[in-house]
Formats: sequence, C-alpha cells, structure tokens
Amino acid sequence: MSNIRNFCIIAHIDHGKSTLADRLLEYTGTISRREMKDQILDDMELERERGITIKAKVVRMDYTDKNGVKYILNLIDTPGHVDFTYEVSRSLAACEGAILVIDATQGVEAQTLANTMLARNAKLKIIPVINKIDLPTADANSAYEQMKEGLEVDADPILASAKEGLGIREIVDSVIANVPPAKVVKEDPLSALVFDSFYDSYRGVIVIIRVFAGKIRKGMKVKFMVSDAEYEVLEVGYIKMKMIESDELSSGEVGYVVARIKDIHNIKIGDTITESENPTRHPHKGYKEINPFVFAGLYPNMTSEYDGLKTALGKLKLSDSSLVYFPETSVALGFGFRCGFLGSLHLEIVKERLEREFGLNILVTAPNVIYKAKSKDKFVKIDNPAKFLNSSDIEEIWEPYVEATIVCPVDYLGSILDLCRKRRGKQMLMKYMNTKIVILKYHIPLAEIIIGFYDALKSASKGYASFDYVHINPQLGDLVKLEIMINAEVVDAFTVITHKDKAQSIAHYLTEKLRDIIPRHMFEVPIQAKVNNKIIARETISVVRKDVLAKCYGGDITRKRKLLEKQKEGKRKMRRFGKVDIPPEAFIAVLKID
Ligand code: GTP
Repeated sequence: MSNIRNFCIIAHIDHGKSTLADRLLEYTGTISRREMKDQILDDMELERERGITIKAKVVRMDYTDKNGVKYILNLIDTPGHVDFTYEVSRSLAACEGAILVIDATQGVEAQTLANTMLARNAKLKIIPVINKIDLPTADANSAYEQMKEGLEVDADPILASAKEGLGIREIVDSVIANVPPAKVVKEDPLSALVFDSFYDSYRGVIVIIRVFAGKIRKGMKVKFMVSDAEYEVLEVGYIKMKMIESDELSSGEVGYVVARIKDIHNIKIGDTITESENPTRHPHKGYKEINPFVFAGLYPNMTSEYDGLKTALGKLKLSDSSLVYFPETSVALGFGFRCGFLGSLHLEIVKERLEREFGLNILVTAPNVIYKAKSKDKFVKIDNPAKFLNSSDIEEIWEPYVEATIVCPVDYLGSILDLCRKRRGKQMLMKYMNTKIVILKYHIPLAEIIIGFYDALKSASKGYASFDYVHINPQLGDLVKLEIMINAEVVDAFTVITHKDKAQSIAHYLTEKLRDIIPRHMFEVPIQAKVNNKIIARETISVVRKDVLAKCYGGDITRKRKLLEKQKEGKRKMRRFGKVDIPPEAFIAVLKID
C-alpha cells in the first residue's frame, strides 16, 4: 500500500479554504510560521486582492505520524469560481479524497453543493469539516443538518477553526485514515494526467501532472496524447512551496514537468502524457476542449494604445490558454479586439490585468454569448451582436443555456423566483434543505446571467443567496437584434441581442439612458432604437449652445484658459461618432440592462 494521499479542499467562496491550507502547511512543517504569508497559495497579487483562487496549484507535504510512519500528502488547490469548473473537475480527477469545508456561520451554499457533486462524480472520499466554530455566530448544528439534507453527506464532520488552528490534527489524521492511498502501477507504460500548467518566462510552460501508471524522468521522450505534441523531458520534480527537482515521478505521485515547451496551446488541461516509444493504452478519460462562452469587444481608450493592447493580450495568452482574441473594427470604437472568455469573472480578471499589469485604459463592450443560427440551410456561429442576422434571414436560432443552482434563505424566495422568471428561467427543482434554506435549480439562457445577474441576485437576497452554474445544451430562442441609431446612424457597439418580448423595454431603457448621458450639441440629436428596420423607441437631445466662459466675468485669463483646457480634456475622452460626441459612460449603460 502506498503512503501517498492525494486530496483537495472544496468549499464555497470565503468558507476558509485558503486559511485551512495554510494551517495544514504549517502543521506538517512544510512552511514555518515565520515564512508564512497569509494565504500563501493565492500568490497572484490580483488573487489576493479579490480573495479568490484562480489557478489550480499543488503542494507536497511530507509528514511523519506519531508512530513514525512517513507519508506524502499532496494538497491540490482548486479554483473556486464557476467560470473554472472544468479545471476544478480535472484537479479532482487527480485526487482520491476531498476535504469539504463548510462555514459554520453560513452553512451550505451553491458552490458547496456544486463542488460536492463534482467530488462525488470523481468518486472521491469526502471528509466534511465545519469551519469557523470560533465565531460567536457559528451554528455547527444547523450546518450539519444542511450538510446531511442538502448534500446527503453522512459522515461525522470535524469541527474546526482554521483561523485559530483548531481541529487541524484531526483533519490530517482523517486524511491519512480515510482518503484511499494512491494506487501504484509501476510496471505499466507511463500514463499521467495534466491538470494544470503555468508559464515561466525562463523555462517555458511548466506542466503539473498526476502520474497514474509508470514513471516519468529526465531525458524521456514523451507525448501529449490529445495535442499530439512530443517533447524531451528536461526536468521533473515536486512542488513544496518551490520546485524541487527529483530523479523521477512515479505512479501515484504529483509533480511538475519542464520540457522546453514554448506554446501553451500544446498543453491541454485533461490531456494524458505518455512515453512516445511505449504509449499507454489507457489515456485519461474526461478530456474536454474548452471553448470560450462569453465574448466582448476590448478597445483602447486612445488609438495610440492599440499596439500596446495587442502586445498585452499576446502576453496574457501565454499564461492563460482559455483566452482567445482576434482583431475587430467597430464603426463607433475604431480598432480593437473581440475576445472570448470562460465567463464574466474571467472577463473581469483579464480587464483588470490589462489595466494593472500593462497600464492600459480600455473600454469593454457589453458581453455577449455565441448564437448558432440556421440561415438558408446553413449553420452560422455568431459571436458579435453587430453581426446578428435580420429576422427574415433566420430560420432557427439556438442560444446557450445553463443549469443554475441557487441556494437561498426562504425569506427571499419570492424576489428570487421573480428575478429568475424575468431572466427567462425555467424552474427545474425547488427543495428545502431545512425550514430556512431552499435549493433552486433553473434552466436559464446564458445571455441572461452574464450581465448583472449576480448583482441582482445579491440585492434580491440582501447578499444571502449563492449561485453556481453548469453549461447545458443550447435551446431554440425567439431572439431579435436591437440596434441603436444616433443621429440616424447605427452605433454598432450598442447593438444587443434580446428576446422578442424584452425588446421594447430594453429599447426604452437604452434610448432614455443615452439621452441623459450624451451631452447636448449645437443641433438636435435623435436617438432611436430599431428592430428589423422598424423604429420601436425614440428620444431626442435638444439643442444647446455651450458657453463655458459665460461664468468668467472679468478678464481673468488664467482662469479662462483653465476652463478651456478642462473642456478640451472632456472632449478628448469622448468618442466622436459622426458629428456626435459620446462619453464613455454611454457604453457602460449597455452593461446595466436589467
Ligand atoms: P476563496 O479563496 O475566495 O475561495 O476563499 P477561501 O475559501 O479560501 O477562504 P479564506 O481562507 O480566504 O477565508 C475567508 C475569510 O474567512 C478570511 O477573512 C479568513 O481569515 C476567514 N476565516 C477562515 N477560516 C476562519 C475561521 O476558522 N474562523 C474565523 N473567524 N475566520 C476564518
């Protein structure tokens, strides 16, 4: 029997996963208190600020129990957000067990449910832990009840406080006693699962693997079975806060591989590495090509920043293989890029990294999903609303759907049902976890949740509801393209695709909003919304003669100059469209459609 335990921690956001990981590292002596920075596993600055874990990582802990038996405990850290579900599933596939953390003050939430389902599908042994019992508002009994009812997890939970270090020894003992030891299949050809990768500017792509059979060592010629790429292994080793080279990684172990890999696209999460000369007949199952689900246009605020944006996207893509982008031109916004993301959080992260790490100012158009349309017996994919066809050219149109899981207190049920109905959701399940908490399952068009759904859910439930989703098959939809014309010309960046029944209210919302945001000009500016060449809403911005100097009586020339400068600056930030100046807030208005 092997002495290796491969496990992960699953939890809803903020239930204490990173804090618990820190305590485990400390308890096993992997890192001393002195070296400990808070939440060591979340090492990107952005991750720390947002308090979420973006990329899966792994750390090896060497541990000797009280009888002197030595163990290797591999803790595999999984990303905590719905956009990264596939990565989570591949990380789970590298494990035999999962510590399920539930916050004693919050109980079971949507991601607790979703992650427990994933762990169960991966056939992991689940070790439930009720965390934060140090807090006065902790209610371990209620958390336990919800765990039994909602998650159908029967095992006795360990009561813990990751913050105060309570229950940590019990957790480690339980991992050793209950997580099945990693199987050792030394004789078979190499079969290793790729479950993470990252880009190192000196060594190229570094691949994180779990070896299921055989061994991998320096000098070996290996093949990535899905991407069909071959490399010679330069180095293998394991990660114990930093990379530590070893002679080989053998069956049961988790570690890293360096092989002078320049192109991250050859490395696909879920792929199997095998020996080129002696390939395995058992590649790992469950590989999926991940394609972006959400698209948006990214435009530099100043034309001169176009090249900078292009370089920055190229650099980001080196470390983020799920990001796609290609050049696009917008009549309103000029030259930019259409980018594909895994979800709206992924979009936010990319935007922030572009601004923070590359110092760029960018404008992001409203995100949209990919539609599949049948037109003249041909199927076309539409990733940009501006390219959506007119209704007369469409025979059928499919839109992507998700199955959403919402966990909420009964008190807010009414407003949440209302929200889901407004977002065209179809209820699939309503189940009480106890008298206070309800689980809802809905089928909802993806387009209805990528803009503002999460915020609306939070405000409908005073922050108490939680939410997660998985992608399901697309469904036929009755959709139309709604265009906005300013001064009689279509502004492509405002085009939205919407359900027929919602077109009218969105048309009113947008035209009114734009009327308020766009400044008055020396001429009248009509703002119109049209669907299939028919105007369905109109607002007008009346004429004004703007005299900024009117306030400056007397001859204070410096003051006058200042005002003129200020006005010029205001102008520079505007987008000139035809003869009309459109301020950047106008483009954000489209993001706020409810
Ligand atoms: P994500 O990385 O966002 O998924 O969050 P997480 O699950 O890793 O949670 P994290 O460890 O960042 O903890 C969230 C907050 O809860 C932090 O402010 C922690 O200090 C706090 N926290 C974690 N465990 C405990 C605990 O046992 N007791 C108390 N009082 N606070 C805790």
